[in-house]
Amino acid sequence: MCVGVWVACVGVWVGVVVSFNLETEDFVTHGGPRGSKFGFSVSHHRDTAGAWVLVGAPEAQTSQPEVWQGGAVYRCHPAVSGSCEPVPFDLTGNHYDNDNGQQMDNKSMQWFGASLASQSGVIVACAPRYVWFSVKRNRREPVGNCFYTTGRDTHTYQMYSPCMTPSWGYHRQGSCQAGISTTLTQVRCSTRIC
Ligand SMILES: *[C@@H]1O[C@H](CO)[C@@H](O)[C@H](O)[C@H]1NC(C)=O
Repeated sequence: MCVGVWVACVGVWVGVVVSFNLETEDFVTHGGPRGSKFGFSVSHHRDTAGAWVLVGAPEAQTSQPEVWQGGAVYRCHPAVSGSCEPVPFDLTGNHYDNDNGQQMDNKSMQWFGASLASQSGVIVACAPRYVWFSVKRNRREPVGNCFYTTGRDTHTYQMYSPCMTPSWGYHRQGSCQAGISTTLTQVRCSTRIC
């Protein structure tokens, strides 16, 4: 009896769950490196060169020295399949103290590209698992970190880590993980592309 009812329910659901594509004939596909979580975040973007699709791949292996799977954001042509190229937000490895050579942060597994936003020609992308070594470099603080583009085109990149402050410790801002989500407010149209 119970089995009979259960089978009936499965039958109903098979009928309801029918998948579909918005466009089955003329579509564009983009992909990223295997295991990079390509597609974890997606945003549209417009700059002086035209329109783009931005795709986050938070476990992508980058060319950053000594950084293991730091994550990347790709810029793809909206009408050309497989046209994605990494946006060079951050090409550097971990930071080291100039005075004593001590490592200051850890970009490995930082999940850069986990969140992503575009507004008026500006892009912000974040690494919520970025770890800062605070207080004599002996604390491990997942403060999170973001990068944003400056200027009219995406030619310069600026770091922004609002929780990298003297307020260390998990009970203050040390476990902030800034960049779990991100957004940009409207930028004045006179200076940006709107
Ligand atoms: C950096 O993070 C990676 C991944 O979590 C870890 O394996 C490595 O030991 C860390 N390095 C330091 C110096 O903390």
